[in-house]
Amino acid sequence: MRTDDDSWDITESVGATALGVAAIRAYETSREDALFRDPYAAKLVGAVGSDGWNSLMAGRLGGQSVSDGELRGWSMGSVLIARTLYFDEYFASAARAGIRQIVILAAGLDARAYRLEWPSGTRVFELDQPKVLAFKDRVLAAEELTVDRREVAIDLRQDWPKALLDKGFEPGEPTAWLAEGLLRYLPGHAQNRLLEQVVELSAPGSRMALNLGMGNDLSDDRERRRKVMAEAGIQLDLENLFYSWEDRADPRDWFAMHRWLVSEGDPVAVLEDHGRSVPEAAKAGMGQHILMTATKPRGDETQ
Ligand SMILES: C[S@@+](CC[C@H](N)C(=O)[O-])C[C@H]1O[C@@H](n2cnc3c(N)ncnc32)[C@H](O)[C@@H]1O
Repeated sequence: MRTDDDSWDITESVGATALGVAAIRAYETSREDALFRDPYAAKLVGAVGSDGWNSLMAGRLGGQSVSDGELRGWSMGSVLIARTLYFDEYFASAARAGIRQIVILAAGLDARAYRLEWPSGTRVFELDQPKVLAFKDRVLAAEELTVDRREVAIDLRQDWPKALLDKGFEPGEPTAWLAEGLLRYLPGHAQNRLLEQVVELSAPGSRMALNLGMGNDLSDDRERRRKVMAEAGIQLDLENLFYSWEDRADPRDWFAMHRWLVSEGDPVAVLEDHGRSVPEAAKAGMGQHILMTATKPRGDETQ
């Protein structure tokens, strides 16, 4: 049961969703035909020392033999691979456009600060709950970093703009923001407030990328997935961690209303463009998923 001030460690409640997505990234990384490589994901998931999580990232689930096709048939897994590619390209494009200030909201076990190539002078701010960032810090302490990475340990329902400014965020500089796998874990009013705060802190030329599952029936094959996960010892009841779709702005309309230029991605097309076929079973669920980028125009850009 969620509450307005709930908190969690990496294996608990919403914290475990960060492990879940990292396990899928580790699994993708281990494939011969991997579409991206995130070597940090396996280190992070492995550090928990749980058979269930270890088998998920190996593409198996406990004694159950869940085939690659079935894993990919669960649209959440396929969306996750697609959105990793989409947001990696988003940051590459922001870097090409000269943006040097990056803010990752709800960074979880995202290792982009470590694994992407950043131009010199780039600062990456990572925000998440304190225990989640502390876990990541512990596991990656010995890893090499070529970017100025700054942690902002705070709940995103609290006054995170102040905490971000205190860590050296420059509101006068264009920023590339990311909210990946975050918005449905916020109540609608908190999502709307967070988007307002992003706009308030954004200089012209800033960009925002996000994903968001639409509607209240987000899960294909929910019962099968839950059963298999529970048998593997993974307690992750996603649907009870999500807040409802109602009461939240559709971010596509919301950014357009604020006169940002909105561009939408299609998760199925992202995978197919990279040569990965998408199981039919996953397509309907993937179609329920918003993947978007919005850009705050500079003075010389028009809509
Ligand atoms: C599904 S994970 C996504 C993590 C990361 N963005 C990724 O894609 O790998 C959700 C993350 O949102 C964070 N989160 C959710 N609600 C939050 C809140 N109110 N304050 C801070 N972090 C929050 C969780 O701690 C978790 O790390």
